[in-house]
Amino acid sequence: MRAVEYTRHGEAAQVLALRERPHRPVPGVGEILVRVLVRPVHRGDLLAVESPPDPPGSPRPPAQPEQPVQPEQPGQPEQPQQPEQPEQRAEARIPGVEGMGVVESVGAGVHAPRPGQRVAFFPVRGTWSDFVVVPAALAVPVPDGVSDETASLMLVNPLTLRMLHRALEDALRGQRGTVVQTAAGSSVGRLISAAAVRHDLRLVNLVRGDSGAHRTRTLYPSQPVVVTRDDDWREQVRRHAGERGVRVVLDSVGGAMTQDLSALLAEGGTLISYGQLGSGTTPLEALPLIARALTVRGVSVLRWPGLAPEERARDVDFALDLARRTPELLEVAASYDLADFRAAVEHARRPAKSGTVLLTTARTAASEQGGAR
Ligand SMILES: NC(=O)c1ccc[n+]([C@@H]2O[C@H](COP(=O)([O-])OP(=O)(O)OC[C@H]3O[C@@H](n4cnc5c(N)ncnc54)[C@H](OP(=O)(O)O)[C@@H]3O)[C@@H](O)[C@H]2O)c1
Repeated sequence: MRAVEYTRHGEAAQVLALRERPHRPVPGVGEILVRVLVRPVHRGDLLAVESPPDPPGSPRPPAQPEQPVQPEQPGQPEQPQQPEQPEQRAEARIPGVEGMGVVESVGAGVHAPRPGQRVAFFPVRGTWSDFVVVPAALAVPVPDGVSDETASLMLVNPLTLRMLHRALEDALRGQRGTVVQTAAGSSVGRLISAAAVRHDLRLVNLVRGDSGAHRTRTLYPSQPVVVTRDDDWREQVRRHAGERGVRVVLDSVGGAMTQDLSALLAEGGTLISYGQLGSGTTPLEALPLIARALTVRGVSVLRWPGLAPEERARDVDFALDLARRTPELLEVAASYDLADFRAAVEHARRPAKSGTVLLTTARTAASEQGGAR
């Protein structure tokens, strides 16, 4: 099976390589083996490849299963396990935490899903691979009528939206007020804009350039759009926010913008940080934080598995509903075969891109049985 791997951190295009692994993993008790058909290239996937290992205490998706393996050709007698190459023992890792595919086989104790069924999954480490072992409890059956592409995207970003929404409600504490979001043209940004329309929230959209501004104005004409390349963008935001100022900033840019964003907040306001698209750093000065009683809060979807089971079930229902009713909110920028991962990574970072880049594996006769596409 093919897998995109890395054995050291660094620029994704340089450290990632396509390798042929001789064996597929074998699902253990309560697990399923999935032939992955589509997986997204998320910014977080690239950050994980490029950043040094997480500091202690960081949330992590479950580890890749240790190698019980099965031969590549079903039906052949099991081959003896090959000793791993030294390079692989140096912890070859496979990027990706989300994807969809067709169940190939199930481990002991698994009654559902069944082989041949389409499933989406998150968080499962190593989805940039032709096969992945998934805990059955994390496999979400894909409804008929939802395309493979939509299914591959329906968990991470919608679940992030749910987590941001909860953080936002905590920050607003029932009061109305202006909310500002950065990178409004991003895939997550579009979900936030759509939710703001649904919840009648006063949202100001920040974008860095004209293409994002045009896209966002076209999709959400009722929401003000401010371009941060304009010298007076801070004044524009203040004008839109009015006397009561900005209550909450939802920020996925970070870096050098952090100081400006916190300066826009009204007394008691909250900066919710959930991404680092930008570069550079700025000190977050203690005195303004103290004097204006500001809150800074981080949100990561990798903490979603720690939520209560009922809350997670509601979130998955939300994601399924969104995928069925508004698949256009899960826009695909382009699809590339897994082997073309370098082109996909370059596209994922391309300015003025709209939507998410996908990596695909061709269907086989066996996976053709996997329901509606
Ligand atoms: N915390 C979490 O759990 C979580 C989960 C999902 C996503 N995220 C984060 O959410 C953010 C958006 O992800 P996505 O998948 O929605 O992104 P995306 O669809 O790839 O879109 C990226 C967007 O960011 C804009 N952008 C890129 N660099 C920028 C910069 N330096 N300053 C301002 N805007 C910039 C681009 O605008 P142009 O049109 O101007 O090029 C584009 O609209 C990322 O930071 C990602 O890591 C976090």
